[in-house]
Amino acid sequence: DDLTAFIYAMPKAEMHVHLEGTLEPEMKFRFARRNGVTLPYQTVEEMRDSYNFHDLQSFLKIFYEGKTVLLKEQDFYELTYAYLTKAASQNVLYTEMFFDPQMHTDRGIAFSTVMNGLTRAQADARKNLKIDSQLVLCFERELTAESAMKTLESALPYRQHIVGIGLDSDEKNNPPDKFRDVFARARKEGFHLTMHCDLNQFDTHEHIRQVLEDIQADRIDHGGNILERPDLVAIAKRRGTAFTVCPVACGWLRENGENINIIRGMLDRGLKVTVASDDPAYMKGDYVAESLIVAQGDANLSKQDLLTLARNSFEASWISAAQRKTYL
Ligand code: ADE
Ligand code: ZN
Repeated sequence: DDLTAFIYAMPKAEMHVHLEGTLEPEMKFRFARRNGVTLPYQTVEEMRDSYNFHDLQSFLKIFYEGKTVLLKEQDFYELTYAYLTKAASQNVLYTEMFFDPQMHTDRGIAFSTVMNGLTRAQADARKNLKIDSQLVLCFERELTAESAMKTLESALPYRQHIVGIGLDSDEKNNPPDKFRDVFARARKEGFHLTMHCDLNQFDTHEHIRQVLEDIQADRIDHGGNILERPDLVAIAKRRGTAFTVCPVACGWLRENGENINIIRGMLDRGLKVTVASDDPAYMKGDYVAESLIVAQGDANLSKQDLLTLARNSFEASWISAAQRKTYL
C-alpha cells in the first residue's frame, strides 16, 4: 500500500546489522559446496526450519553454526556485497555494519582475510551501487577482556576502515564493565562506541546503566528495557544516546500486564531511536525496509514518525558533519 511504498522509497541509513547475520541459506549452501564443508541440512527449507530459536542463547547457537562456511576472502567479499546490494535496493544510502572478527580468527582465519573481503566489497558497492558504508568491530562478550584487547590491537592497522567498536553475543554474566579498559583504549584510539543491551537479558538495567555512565557509549543496540527506568531514560536523553532497535528481533516489552511497543515508547519519550534489521538472514529475511514495515504496523507509525526514524538513523551515524548534511 501507500505506506509500504513510502517506506521502501524513503532515503535511510541502517545502524544495526551483523554481516554474519546476512548469510542467506542459499549462499550458505553455495559457500559450503565450494569450500568442501558439510552442513547438517539437505535443503534450504530444512535449513530455514532449523532457525527456530526462542531466546538469545538459542539464537546464538544457530548463528555461530553458520560461520563454518566462511573461509576465504571471496566468501567475505560476496557476503558483504550481497548485503549492500539488498540495502541499496531499499534506498539505504549509508550503513554501519557489525562484524565479529573473533568468530573467524578463533578458527585460524587471518584478520586480513576478513578485512580484505569486507573492504573490497564496500569499495565496489560505493562505486557500483552508490551506497556508502563503514565497519563496526564487535567483541564477543563471553570471551575474555584480554582477547578483546588483542583483537583491538590487531585492528589498529585497519583503523581507517573501522569507525567504531561494539559488543555483542551472550550477555549473561558478561556486563559491559568487563570490557571497561578495552573500551577506554578504543576511545583513546579514536573509535566510536556502541553496545548491545538486548531485551530482557540478565541484569539488563545494570548493563544499560554501565553503558550510559561507566563506558559512556554513543549508542545502545536494542536497549528496550530502558523504558522501565525513567532515571536511565533521563540520562540517555541528556547524553543524546541513540538506540538501534530491531523490531523483528525484539519489539515488545511487557509492563504491568501490558504490552509496550519499544519504538513507540522511545519516540514518545523523545529518545533518539532508529530501526534496523539485526540478523536478517536468520530473522525471516526481513531487511531494514521490512523491519520498518513491521514497526509501522506494531506501533501505528505515521509518515512523520517514519521520517523521524530515518532522520535519527543519519543523526545517530558516525559520518562527518559535512557528509551528514548531504543526507539531511
Ligand atoms: N550477534 C549477532 N547477532 C546478535 C544479536 N542480535 N545479539 C547479540 N549478539 C549477536
Ligand atoms: Zn545485534
